[in-house]
Amino acid sequence: MEIKTMTAVYERMTDKTGYADGTLTIRAEGTLPKEYRAYWANEAGTLVDYTAFAPIACSGETTVYALVPSTLIPTGADRILVYAVYDGEESDECVCAMLPDGVSDYDFGKADYELQVQSDIHITLDQNHVHNRHFANTLEDIKRISPDSIGLFINGDTGDSADPQQYENAQEIIRNAGDAAPPVFFAIGNHDLGFDDTPYEIRLANFLKGTNNDADTPYYDRWVAGLHFVFLGGEKPGCHAWLSEAQLGWLEETLAENRDPNRPIYVFLHQGMMDTVAGTFEYQHWHGVTQTTELAAILKKYPEVILFSGHSHWVMNSLHTMKLRDENLPTIFNTSSGGYLWDDEAEITHKGITGSEGYYFYGYKDKVIARGRDFEAGKWIASAQFIVEYSDLT
Ligand SMILES: [Fe+2]
Ligand SMILES: [Fe+2]
Repeated sequence: MEIKTMTAVYERMTDKTGYADGTLTIRAEGTLPKEYRAYWANEAGTLVDYTAFAPIACSGETTVYALVPSTLIPTGADRILVYAVYDGEESDECVCAMLPDGVSDYDFGKADYELQVQSDIHITLDQNHVHNRHFANTLEDIKRISPDSIGLFINGDTGDSADPQQYENAQEIIRNAGDAAPPVFFAIGNHDLGFDDTPYEIRLANFLKGTNNDADTPYYDRWVAGLHFVFLGGEKPGCHAWLSEAQLGWLEETLAENRDPNRPIYVFLHQGMMDTVAGTFEYQHWHGVTQTTELAAILKKYPEVILFSGHSHWVMNSLHTMKLRDENLPTIFNTSSGGYLWDDEAEITHKGITGSEGYYFYGYKDKVIARGRDFEAGKWIASAQFIVEYSDLT
């Protein structure tokens, strides 16, 4: 009992170079599946270095799937292949939605800079543990794909339980990756503050020492390759980030330093603000900034900011993994996790998903390209490829 007939049509709703914005309309008759799985493809089949799109729920005989605005079309793709999924298994047959001619024939040229972001690497005491191996694998992937990287930025939860040896282990993994590995920068996360009654000051000192950081607060900034990187962090133990007035005042001053409204400022905060990106929606339970109102009021004045939001470990093949800037907030990315992953089902079963994800960023004068990476599979994540424009900011 399967589908009798099925068709798929892609309608592009933009003429901007590289943009995939549009709809995929799937029509089917017969025994309808719960969901569809779609892939970027060309004449030779699915693009082997891309995962499937985020699952497309079947909503009846006609399903209209809107691609997330500002999604990047992979070069080399000229069609989307769609499979029906029954009990987790793809159907043997697929249907094809052609892209308009030439839409993936673009070339943005070499980026001015490249960097990577990963979160929640949860390094353990055992160097053979899967989290530790994931981190080593991330560094190897970056050495291969982005040898000129200006840095890998870890968005909190480096030490699984804040044991100083876990930072030693992270440093050993970095050393083992050799001179070709990128410099690594660390924001603090709630796991870095531990779960016992060890005083906050000791945990903070262990984190800063263990990550070779000469700052004396959990918030600090760095200029790298002419770009501003701002690290925020919770100032009390606990799951949520508690940001003092001193930190928020410092943020206001720091964002204004050498500001160029057309240049991104990269801001890292382990916990996310509620209802912004995947994992932070109230029903998902993984938001966590106590001073959200105060923080949002500052960020609103800096639309050029790209804010990274970790902690939830939420899979990047989600519909809301990136939130484009609007009148209230700058652009925000869900940074998922290098340790293990989480999604709506995990929220019910409380069992994490084995996997390791992160972003490659490619900076140009007028835009930033963000490419979500499944480090374990060695593939680009189809629903996490984005363009963030800077040409429209003044
Ligand atoms: Fe985490
Ligand atoms: Fe966390």
